[in-house]
Amino acid sequence: MARKLLLENINVPGIKSFDVYRAKGGYRSVEKALKTMSPDDVMEEVKKSGLRGRGGAGFPTGMKWSFLDRKSDKPRYLVCNADESEPGTFKDRFLMEYIPHLLIEGLIVSSYSLGSNTTYIYIRGEYRWIVDILEHAIAEAKHNGFLGKNILGSGYDLEIYVQPGGGAYICGEETALIESLEGKRGNPRMKPPFPAISGLYNCPTVVNNVETLATVVPIINMGGDEYAKIGVGRSTGTKLISACGHMNKPGVYEIELGLPVDEFLNSDEYCGGIRTGHTLKAVVPGGSSVPILPAELFYKTKEGVARLMSYESLSEGGFASGSMLGSGGFIAMDETTCIVRNLWNFTRFYHHESCGQCSPCREGTGWMEKVLHRLEHGHGSMSDIDLLVDIAKKIEGNTICPLGDAAAWPVASHIRHFREEFEYHVKFPEKVAHSPFAHSADYKR
Ligand code: NAI
Ligand code: SF4
Repeated sequence: MARKLLLENINVPGIKSFDVYRAKGGYRSVEKALKTMSPDDVMEEVKKSGLRGRGGAGFPTGMKWSFLDRKSDKPRYLVCNADESEPGTFKDRFLMEYIPHLLIEGLIVSSYSLGSNTTYIYIRGEYRWIVDILEHAIAEAKHNGFLGKNILGSGYDLEIYVQPGGGAYICGEETALIESLEGKRGNPRMKPPFPAISGLYNCPTVVNNVETLATVVPIINMGGDEYAKIGVGRSTGTKLISACGHMNKPGVYEIELGLPVDEFLNSDEYCGGIRTGHTLKAVVPGGSSVPILPAELFYKTKEGVARLMSYESLSEGGFASGSMLGSGGFIAMDETTCIVRNLWNFTRFYHHESCGQCSPCREGTGWMEKVLHRLEHGHGSMSDIDLLVDIAKKIEGNTICPLGDAAAWPVASHIRHFREEFEYHVKFPEKVAHSPFAHSADYKR
């Protein structure tokens, strides 16, 4: 049985309540940090742990914290990014819904380290019911002396507020999130300056994902060096994976990084294999923004090395033959999946969610969606396939925020690995025009 650091107590009855959570050892990290460690000591442990941002980018958390402008006389802010909207990603929802005090505990320790006295949880608007859960947990923590003035007699003050978003995917991008939190339209800002220098209300700000901040709890409890022993290479610790698609046991799993992908997808401890009677066609391992992998490149790299669930292994081969761990939004597709339709669906999403500030993203996502719509419905031409690749190339790297890249990468990778299926849509329009799924079964790679 794999080690659990975040979900260890998830099935304990009443774990949502302060009393049960506390009885299971909750809030120990706050006592340890505030009574025996300086803010810099906490940051050192996080650095030693090797923790990398769990929202998708995998940026080293301790390094991000060290960028915070501590010389400024302005207030410093910690903002928790709970605007989880990446298609296929629902692990933060699970954590906040079922073990909310773990996040509150992680926020207190992290805020103490960063010197934030006002910390925000910016939560996806569609997670309305979780706002109530979090606010209840905050009230309980405050009632028990873990929030408010002079926490545990340490002289440290902290308030946490929950702010729901308005339902825009782009507000998960950290600078758009900050704009939205300030009450403005959620348009991403140009970086630099990074939020660590000029973020919320132009003050030094750290924006971290829910899972990242919850992970600070076991790091402080066990020590950064111990935490770093879990995992593989620079992929240390455990990671929540939200698994969905054509598998027997979809759900949220906590894995030790370095787990073989075969074991994750096919063992009964995790996904339980592709749904009975079907075979794996492709996997998007880290949320819709990362490149798709055909089954053969998912299990093994081009060089024949078995892949692991880690930042490095999943990206082995670069974009030519690899992908990314991303946010851990793991989507498996069996042989009945129409790859063109899947891409059209992803692209429609990015077009809808583009904020419209930069023309390559605003116009390019719209063109890609139109071209994919006609290919999927049997009105496309062979030149449309290259046109898509060309538009994707012109978006990539030419936009203010990563949404442009996130829209371009799936297009490039779907066509790179499944070009014949796009050509099939052009050659046999009658098979795809009226029944988008019917052809998938008789189409063989
Ligand atoms: P990024 O790589 O631009 O930045 C990572 C973090 O490091 C940011 O907080 C940034 O401020 C900080 N940083 C980087 N260089 C810095 C420097 N020189 N000085 C100070 N700070 C610095 O990536 P970003 O925009 O944070 O995230 C993109 C990722 O988010 C994608 O890979 C995607 O997988 C993921 N994503 C996740 C979603 C979800 O629902 N969980 C939704 C959409 C995207
Ligand atoms: Fe807006 Fe797209 Fe530009 Fe990002 S890349 S700022 S979402 S238009």
